[in-house]
Amino acid sequence: MKRLILVFILVLPITALASSGGVDLQTANNNLHDKKSLQRGAGLFVNYCMGCHSLQYMRYQRMGDDLGIPTEVLEKNLMFSAEKVGELMTISMKKADAEKWFGVAPPDLSVIARARGVDWLYTYLLSFYLDSKRAIGINNQVFKDVGMPHVLWKLQGWQVPAPEEASAEGHGHQGAGLVLKNRAQMDEKKHHESVNGYRRDVRDLVNFLAYVGEPMQLERRVIGKWVIFFLVIFLIVAYALKKEYWRDIH
Ligand code: HEC
Repeated sequence: MKRLILVFILVLPITALASSGGVDLQTANNNLHDKKSLQRGAGLFVNYCMGCHSLQYMRYQRMGDDLGIPTEVLEKNLMFSAEKVGELMTISMKKADAEKWFGVAPPDLSVIARARGVDWLYTYLLSFYLDSKRAIGINNQVFKDVGMPHVLWKLQGWQVPAPEEASAEGHGHQGAGLVLKNRAQMDEKKHHESVNGYRRDVRDLVNFLAYVGEPMQLERRVIGKWVIFFLVIFLIVAYALKKEYWRDIH
């Protein structure tokens, strides 16, 4: 038993590292009570992500109600493929097509903030960089050989691995050890604005995904209760059966 515990203690940090590609995760610092941030995040999500990723358990109406977005604004600015506010936030891309295009279908993101954690998502979206060794031309520090293109490049610009001496500067701004490709053409002020602007966009997006995961968690808890209920009933049945079988043997 002791040895088993020891193995656990030794292996745990390794698995934690493996999930982030060995990169230190940056803190998202998102705030679920900040409505403005959630609204901006929703806008960014439908514009930049919903071409490929669905939120299949979320309805437009519910999102509008929760985030305080009036129905007219919702219909005009946030609904591209849906007709009615009561619809689920699904997408029309077919799984088979997506696999053909990207090698792997983009997953539904309803519970991604729970599965990966907000810090992982935040760091992931900061960590795309140009990589000529890959067919799609980009890579990601926390998701090696990712199949997703850097869809936010218009907001962030392109990053490249920083030369050794500059990596200290890259750290804490963008993905660790990455710098903007056109960094040399930017003065301090412009660089600062660009980096902070993108960080804010990503923070809002992550905040929105964290919000989306919340109601889903409630649903999961309800399902969990049913599962336990079922297991208890099953235990009683199994026990009764056992007694029945053994009656003849005794
Ligand atoms: C052009 C299609 C496309 C768009 C647009 C897109 N993605 Fe993706 N995304 C993908 C694909 C494909 C994958 C699967 C990557 C893999 O497994 O290699 C993916 C994976 C992800 C993952 C990792 C899921 C996991 O396995 O843990 C996250 C998080 C993610 N996308 C977030 C976003 C966000 C946020 C946006 C909007 C800013 C976005 N994506 C826009 C195609 C897209």
